[in-house]
Amino acid sequence: MSYPYQIKSFEQYQTAYQKSIEQPEEFWEDIAQHFTWQKKWDKVLDWEFNTPKVEWFKGGKLNITENCLDRWVATQPETPAIIWESNNPHEASRNITYKALHQKVCAFAQVLKNNGAKKGDRICIYMPMVPELTIAVLACARIGAVHSVIFAGFSAQSISDRVQDAQCNIVITADGAYRGNKTIPLKSVMDEALVNCPSVEKVIVLTRTQMAVSMLNGRDCWWDEEMKLVEEKNDYSDKAEVMDAEDMLFILYTSGSTGKPKGVVHTCAGYMVWTNYTFVNVFQYEPGQIHFCTADIGWVTGHSYIIYGPLSAGATSLMFEGIPTYPDAGRFWEVVEKHHVNILYTAPTAIRSLMGFGKSPIEGKNLSSLKILGTVGEPINEEAWHWYDENIGKENCPIVDTWWQTETGGILISNLAGVTPSKPTFATLPIPGVQPLLVDESGNELLGNAVSGNLCIKFPWPGMLRTTYGDHERCRQTYFSTYQNLYFTGDGCLRDEDGYYRITGRVDDVLNVSGHRLGTAELENAINMHSGVIESAIVGYPHDIKGQGIYAYVVFGEIHTDEEHTKQNILKTVSKIIGAIAKPDKIQFVSGLPKTRSGKIMRRILRKVAEGETENLGDTSTLLDPSIVAEIIKGRL
Ligand code: WT7
Repeated sequence: MSYPYQIKSFEQYQTAYQKSIEQPEEFWEDIAQHFTWQKKWDKVLDWEFNTPKVEWFKGGKLNITENCLDRWVATQPETPAIIWESNNPHEASRNITYKALHQKVCAFAQVLKNNGAKKGDRICIYMPMVPELTIAVLACARIGAVHSVIFAGFSAQSISDRVQDAQCNIVITADGAYRGNKTIPLKSVMDEALVNCPSVEKVIVLTRTQMAVSMLNGRDCWWDEEMKLVEEKNDYSDKAEVMDAEDMLFILYTSGSTGKPKGVVHTCAGYMVWTNYTFVNVFQYEPGQIHFCTADIGWVTGHSYIIYGPLSAGATSLMFEGIPTYPDAGRFWEVVEKHHVNILYTAPTAIRSLMGFGKSPIEGKNLSSLKILGTVGEPINEEAWHWYDENIGKENCPIVDTWWQTETGGILISNLAGVTPSKPTFATLPIPGVQPLLVDESGNELLGNAVSGNLCIKFPWPGMLRTTYGDHERCRQTYFSTYQNLYFTGDGCLRDEDGYYRITGRVDDVLNVSGHRLGTAELENAINMHSGVIESAIVGYPHDIKGQGIYAYVVFGEIHTDEEHTKQNILKTVSKIIGAIAKPDKIQFVSGLPKTRSGKIMRRILRKVAEGETENLGDTSTLLDPSIVAEIIKGRL
């Protein structure tokens, strides 16, 4: 088996790119024909950005799980689909073949049906990184239910907002999750969330930690018992629901510049083609290789490059439950050695954190199976790039710097491993089908090379978002209204003298903390929930490991005990409202915030102070009370 659309040389890349621009419909039709369809499409593309309306392979009928499972069961049933490595190095790993995964997915699909699930229902998944999470996701897709996976680090409040927004009727969770030396009580967090979610009728609970949980009569049931019912009686079918190309596949919530996370919607066919095409080309996957993406399935990277991209390509995908530093900072390298990993795809924040432990965790580990390395989620700095290249790749593995977003479904700008040139800290060139463009503040296109501006995309690609769940107007406003007829990414970008792209970071009120996306408004809302807080302003600042750290300026009523205690209480509040990932790194108490006469917070000043700049704060003449700035500088942390 090989992939007829895998690009093997720079010339082939140039030819493919050219064709994808000049004849996009023919280009994607050639690729789409290599998938399993129950009925071919009537029209390859229909689009209009101002609405926005984007439809790919309209009229086509398919089920993505037939592409991820059935076609491989037919040709390579014994190939491992998933290799799973526990958080605990002493627990046995698991190896699940395509045949076994197919069987489990069909059985769990029946469990969902037995619990009332129907095509189009929204199902919330809040689970640890165990194979059953992948089974749950694929079982939803199998019956045409829309999955909404919520990262297991989110708080009850965050879950509740998301479950209500999507009006989920079923929840799939586990008793608890292991994460490093911690055990997280998933079911009890879920129980707290569901107090405010009347739409939820059934909760299916997997046993992972065997911690005590409360099971609500009539609502809650055990995964194992439900599976036993269908498996023992062999009472399930392997027939997949027939889906329209543009039927919803999943919702994934992500943060933006407003306080409320939005449900990014992806549909069946375009997303499938995109994740597969980018997986096969960016990582240059060869059949038989072991692909290890270290992300959590709670984020889009896990959806696209642990589940859908690799499995739709018949690949072997390694799923790791743990974290890079437990039980020690050699864990990733141990996993690579143990499972002979060929492709390692991780985040700059993980690389920077491991760099801090020096070379000893790598010494004695055999990393010779590695062929290709990848990074994603944030800009990678030069030092981390070289450390990765020298110590992990032994200067022998191409590094792909893959730029994309939850909204884009898959990678948009990246070098193709070993096929197109790499350049440290540059995502380099667009994937065929992607037409990037840089604009200045007023929306004028910046032509030529050696220019910097805001990154937009001017033509649809199959994997792009279709809407934001329940609020199409919000989708239009957020992504398609800033610049006429363009998709606006929210990122700043440089195109260098060679035409290579380097993403420089967000230009909106969104922070990227350890590769996690957090809106400043959302963070401020969470802090303001603390009863003593009068108001707050959040800005990002450069952080050696996290990329960006969270700096909170807080106006507090009356501090009754000491400041440290009050800070702890604020951190606790943020954990409760969003989750531990959102805890500020620094909290500075101030008597007021720098505001203009019209009441607008001057974040530019706060950002500069947080970054350590105290002299050149720019124009401060419009400030209502300039003395505040002096106080803020004095109290800087
Ligand atoms: C934001 C999207 C893409 C999956 C994980 C994050 C930043 C992503 C890169 C990269 C520089 C990057 C951007 C983007 N980003 N990849 N290779 N170089 N920045 O998905 O949570 O939707 O965040 O992550 O700022 O807009 P996300």
